[in-house]
Amino acid sequence: MYSKDQVVELQKLTQQLVEGNHTEKAFEIVENLRNVLQFHEHRYYILNDPLISDTEYDQLFKLLEKIEKANPELVTAASPTQRVGNSLNASFKAVAHLVPMLSLENSYNAGDLVDWDRKAKEVAKKDELEYCIEPKFDGASVSLIYENDHLARGATRGNGMEGDDITTNIKQIRSIPLTAAFSKYGIQQIEIRGEIMMSKKAFKEYNDQLVSQNIAPLANPRNAASGSLRMKDPKEVGRRRLEAFLYNASYYIRTKEPVAPQNEELLHKHSGILQMLWNVGFRSPMNEMKVVKGIQAVIDYCNEYEGKRDNLPYEIDGMVIKVNDLDLQDKMGMTTHHPRWAIAYKFKARQATSKLRKVEFQVGRTGSITPVAKIDPVFISGVTVGSISLFNEDVIKEKDLKIGDTVLVERAGDVIPYIVKSLSEVRDGSEEEIVYPKVCPVCNSELYKEEGEAVWRCINIECPAQVVERMIHFVSKDAMDIKSFGEANVRKFYELGLLKDIPGIYTLDFAAIGKMAGFGKRSIDNLQAAIEESKHQSLNRLIFALGIRYVGETTAKVLANCISHLLHLKDFSEEKLQTLEDIGVKVAKSVHTFFQNEQNIEMLQQLEQLGVEMNNKKNAVIAKGGLDGQTFLFTGTLNKLKRTEAEEMVELHGGKLLGSVSSKLNYLVAGEAAGSKLEKAKKIHTVKVISEDEFLSLIESN
Ligand code: IVH
Repeated sequence: MYSKDQVVELQKLTQQLVEGNHTEKAFEIVENLRNVLQFHEHRYYILNDPLISDTEYDQLFKLLEKIEKANPELVTAASPTQRVGNSLNASFKAVAHLVPMLSLENSYNAGDLVDWDRKAKEVAKKDELEYCIEPKFDGASVSLIYENDHLARGATRGNGMEGDDITTNIKQIRSIPLTAAFSKYGIQQIEIRGEIMMSKKAFKEYNDQLVSQNIAPLANPRNAASGSLRMKDPKEVGRRRLEAFLYNASYYIRTKEPVAPQNEELLHKHSGILQMLWNVGFRSPMNEMKVVKGIQAVIDYCNEYEGKRDNLPYEIDGMVIKVNDLDLQDKMGMTTHHPRWAIAYKFKARQATSKLRKVEFQVGRTGSITPVAKIDPVFISGVTVGSISLFNEDVIKEKDLKIGDTVLVERAGDVIPYIVKSLSEVRDGSEEEIVYPKVCPVCNSELYKEEGEAVWRCINIECPAQVVERMIHFVSKDAMDIKSFGEANVRKFYELGLLKDIPGIYTLDFAAIGKMAGFGKRSIDNLQAAIEESKHQSLNRLIFALGIRYVGETTAKVLANCISHLLHLKDFSEEKLQTLEDIGVKVAKSVHTFFQNEQNIEMLQQLEQLGVEMNNKKNAVIAKGGLDGQTFLFTGTLNKLKRTEAEEMVELHGGKLLGSVSSKLNYLVAGEAAGSKLEKAKKIHTVKVISEDEFLSLIESN
């Protein structure tokens, strides 16, 4: 581990390198920095136990990038910077596997396992076998080749004999080390197998993002992982937060170097191989596997694990049982389909079939029409499923769904239930086409579909369905979080005429509500208190609660961070919005349209009069006093801030921006390679020339 002082020293030395003062120790310094980064990657991605914050890691990473950019001769293929898409396009040429990637034989119950154990003992000519049991990871299988301790190739399973070369994309996965010290085990070349996974959390977030854009979500993390591996843009692969579990060595070539006996010993057992993989930096199932003797212990461990399945951070669909002795594995050999020394134990299915009875069309808060399939209720992994979203018209077409069809339904853990396909082979001719509506099922207005979109929309902003959905969203947990309000109450109050729009939430007639069945004094008090409390919700939640199209929680935070009062967004042009982090043309247009609409502004003013806070408490404090009236101009390249960010900071603190150097200018912030503006400013003695760091301290001190 490096102490803080050592890191500071390292930063100093590297700064010299960036500036071109090439010292003799340059390579050593850069190597040190790489080791520090690799050490922290391992803590984070393999051990799940980081020692530094993401920001600290990013700072070190950027430092290395900077040095390598200034001194390209110091770059090595194994540098952590080389993960990040060097080639713009991942190419997928077919490559042959060194050893065919076979399947596994399947078993479904204890009886199957007992039969298999009997056969295995016969083949192995043993009375009892030692087994290694590990989870059957439900992801996309890959083969990795390391040569002389360097990752040389990554490939998909393909047809088992040949797969796609996905090396560039594989390098984006942080739990796959670019170098691994197999040489310590006397190994010169090795092919290892494993599974690329997307965690349930990452998958849910990815799907939520798709759903918020009315795009059909992916069925399961396996599809998400295998789709991600085939992306053309490696940077996008990096964003998908994939993980890798490595569980097998299919082949290796030894060196002639002597090997420490404790390392040599590991090479004789499968569990030893897992240990070696772990030791050289892979996420092998070391903590998940168990070595046992006899089949009863196998059955017990499989049952124990099935109980834990839903609590794991990733999907597994069973367990894999392997003969632990590798010499014995060789003797037992394989069929053309599967090895005789291993078997998969599959957990209970999470799929079921049912009948599609009808399709209802629901209107969302942005007017989007969502088809929802009503099926005969089926029980899948602990939950009864009767309604399944179909997302848009294309999904119905792609899956060729008809009313009366038998459909295959999947539900895994907390994943949204999903229609996998219709079983068209069991149709009897009585099935009917699904007719997509031309008008809104609630307000009868004509529906529209924008070019390039899959979703039909009702554009009547007064459509009762939209009004109600907007209010439901406003009070919901992730938005204003008005506890005990909820969807049911919004609908009830709306139907009774007690609530007609969002400001109406803050003028509810509690006396009238008190007269309704089911509303005692206690529940009214709770509701009233929750509404009152919501007036002080953070600004980002309020922005999210407004239900502006394309503005999710993250965008709401970005917007809140650059204003001190909600209504300031009125003054943001589309161009200015686009300069903000992660805000593109579509989002900028939507936000701009919302804040140019008079009705919306009136609604916000009403909310403010009713006591809903619109100040950004965080920014408002900083903005006080601040740089009132001081003028600023930026020149040259800034290192820490984006130019637009720096300019926003000035405005946020009450300062003004000028376009050129004149006696009216108070501060010229000079970045790297500042030119004529700097020269001019030096001649006007009232202009203070400051560095980016000095600018940041100035902001902090305000
Ligand atoms: S061992 C020669 N171990 O399951 C077979 N496979 O259904 C070597 N899988 O193709 C495979 N977890 O993609 C093995 N712990 C594990 C596994 C595992 C998932 C996959 C693998 C295999 C498929 C067979």
